[in-house]
Amino acid sequence: MSPTVASNPGRRARHNLCNLGSRSCFFILCLFLAFPTPSSQASALGKRDLVHLSSSALSSIIAHPDPVKNIDSTNPSSHLSKILIPRVPDTENNTAVRQYIVSTLTQLNWHIEEDSFTDSTPYGEKRFTNVIATKDPRAPRRVIVAAHFDSKFFSTFPQNQFVGATDSAAPCAFMLDLAEALNPMLDKRLRRITRRDDEDDDDDDDDDDDEDEDDDLMDTTLQFVFFDGEEAFKDWTATDSIYGARHLAQKWATTHVQPNAKRRLLPLKQINEIAGIEQLILLDLLGSVRPLIRSSFSSTGWLFDAMVSAETRLAEMGAFVYDGDGATTKDKWTSFFMPRTGLANLGFIEDDHIPFLRLGVDILHVIANPFPTVWHTIKDDASALDIPTMRRWNLILRVLMCEYLGLRVEDLEDKRSPTNGRSHSELVSLAITGIGRIAHRSVVHHHNPWSFPALSALSLSVVKHTSRYHAQDGVGIVYLPKASEE
Ligand SMILES: *[C@@H]1O[C@H](CO)[C@@H](O)[C@H](O)[C@H]1NC(C)=O
Repeated sequence: MSPTVASNPGRRARHNLCNLGSRSCFFILCLFLAFPTPSSQASALGKRDLVHLSSSALSSIIAHPDPVKNIDSTNPSSHLSKILIPRVPDTENNTAVRQYIVSTLTQLNWHIEEDSFTDSTPYGEKRFTNVIATKDPRAPRRVIVAAHFDSKFFSTFPQNQFVGATDSAAPCAFMLDLAEALNPMLDKRLRRITRRDDEDDDDDDDDDDDEDEDDDLMDTTLQFVFFDGEEAFKDWTATDSIYGARHLAQKWATTHVQPNAKRRLLPLKQINEIAGIEQLILLDLLGSVRPLIRSSFSSTGWLFDAMVSAETRLAEMGAFVYDGDGATTKDKWTSFFMPRTGLANLGFIEDDHIPFLRLGVDILHVIANPFPTVWHTIKDDASALDIPTMRRWNLILRVLMCEYLGLRVEDLEDKRSPTNGRSHSELVSLAITGIGRIAHRSVVHHHNPWSFPALSALSLSVVKHTSRYHAQDGVGIVYLPKASEE
């Protein structure tokens, strides 16, 4: 990525991001905009407690598939190796990488949409294509995991051989690994959903053994977005950057959901494709040693904490102990995450999430900050990547998304007696503890207006823009201050 802090385009984020411990100097911008909330069908489940997998379930999902095989750059047929080539937008290599991603996910039976368009760049008109892969395109809601698959353009040799290993070949490989790891569970769940819908057609009949699986969770599907054109061709500006994300956000904001599919119940007001997004989890600049990840938005602090919790539990069971990483033992390990207790970030790094943030989408930005030292240099190649670090990312993502979606890990085992698993009862308790369908979302920006006057202006415009948008669109959204979260 080529991020800059919003307050100061052209400067590097790491100079500007900082944390403050004191709440008193936060200037909280908020805006109330209340609507009746008739269309909870498409509303996010929102903040909730995720039910933890049992230790036997954790052991199963970290073992299969081998968490290294997909991210092994020494194996020319690994997912990572297939992506790790120069792949500037509108080039043959970019197309080859996109086709590799598409064919991998097609084989796993994901629905693929290729969002292709042209835009003008400092080097003239270019064609870009985002890839959107969805496990269940009929689901009313989705949680998105995203990264950009393009690499940055450099005009001269040897810089034009830039492969962007951390930026963002490795995150794309993590996503393909996640697809493979969760696929058997997602497929089995999809079969249960189809059966349930068929039974609903027969009108009565309740007592099947899936009765206690939480309907709210089953209405959320997993979606991957591989953005094209994240990088600026020249200098990062509003029009020379995040080409793919800007296009897709605009498209989804203006695409009304067709109420024809059975599971997409007819809303009282038309709802667009943005409204069905529960969370956008954006991965960037990952794969090198000792990343430091901070919570960037208070609205997704709970999801950040869930990710930290997944890491902690995996570490404590020794899952990160790996050959070639003598520094990590069961009792001695260093977290990737900076605890957010008592701290709030004072800004955010510009990246593919910005157009979605402006539309009110909840964002979890998983980006190393400070950036990897090789950032935007020819050294951001395979040698910048660390296998134990990437392996850990794979495991964290598997656990987090499994728990987020409430997947049944026992589905990984072929024949299981109905009494020997824990996850089933865990799912029941999730149904009880979950806060259910809520019909609001919130966007609040905390920052220190004295240090960053430009930021407060930006935040204000973000909030204004968002509310105006939703007001026009008639989607039931309420903006609430969340100061109590900090
Ligand atoms: C395309 O990728 C290959 C590696 O597979 C690389 O050698 C070549 O330079 C790339 N082409 C461009 C135009 O970047």
